Amino acid sequence: MEKLSELYRGKAKTVYSTENPDLLILEFRNDTSALDGQRIEQLERKGLVNNKFNYFIMNKLHEAGIPTQVEALLSDTAILVKKLDMIPVECVIRNRAAGSLVRRLGVEEGFIFNQPTFELFLKNDELHDPMVNDSLCYAFNWATEAQLSQMKTLSFKINTILSDLFDKAGLILVDFKLEFGLFKGEITLGDEFSPDNCRLWEKETLKKMDKDRFRQNLGGVIEAYEEVAKRIGVTL
Ligand SMILES: Nc1ncnc2c1ncn2[C@@H]1O[C@H](COP(=O)(O)OP(=O)(O)OP(=O)(O)O)[C@@H](O)[C@H]1O
Ligand SMILES: [Mg+2]
Repeated sequence: MEKLSELYRGKAKTVYSTENPDLLILEFRNDTSALDGQRIEQLERKGLVNNKFNYFIMNKLHEAGIPTQVEALLSDTAILVKKLDMIPVECVIRNRAAGSLVRRLGVEEGFIFNQPTFELFLKNDELHDPMVNDSLCYAFNWATEAQLSQMKTLSFKINTILSDLFDKAGLILVDFKLEFGLFKGEITLGDEFSPDNCRLWEKETLKKMDKDRFRQNLGGVIEAYEEVAKRIGVTL
């Protein structure tokens, strides 16, 4: 499948149309951003690592019965996906406190919750992705009650599948962000799952193995992504 024309250039990926109106190509670039896109740097190999990482994870989720966008891996940095009508709300699951929740609620980083949390954030960089809730989703027509309920159920199911997968590789899945969309009316997992949009800590040492290495200038960003990929069995 060939790229037809560029539809959208996001912070990390470029979206292309194809001859098939139901399919898109996502091209993973090396651009790495923080602070809602205010800081952008090129990290060599990131596009390749995240594309293959995402393809691997989405396949695992598909095997476990989660509806995903994935059609085929096209190259080192590109994937063929179903064209979704994206729901403009991000779903965030947390197993331990980190990031914005630590600042918002004043808990210590690493605090282990009684049970995983589920939060919703509006996709809007200018507004810094504000937190929203179910009632706002219905009021603004971002998602219906049935769609949101399914997104929540799928998010928790994905948490169970992936927490187990990373645990077996000696890693803690601290939190992650998902984006869903509609394909022929069905809620489907879109966008990406990679160390860019989740937090992974080494079980033994609590070493950060995700994009926080970039946000916090810890160095060894791609080395950490590659180490995680290796441990879970992604062929790079
Ligand atoms: N299967 C899909 N079908 C349609 N759009 C998709 C699909 N998967 C991801 N997208 C959208 O493609 C874009 C991917 O680019 P990228 O992740 O770089 O964007 P971004 O900088 O996060 O921008 P945005 O704030 O718009 O999400 C996002 O807008 C994402 O919502
Ligand atoms: Mg994105």
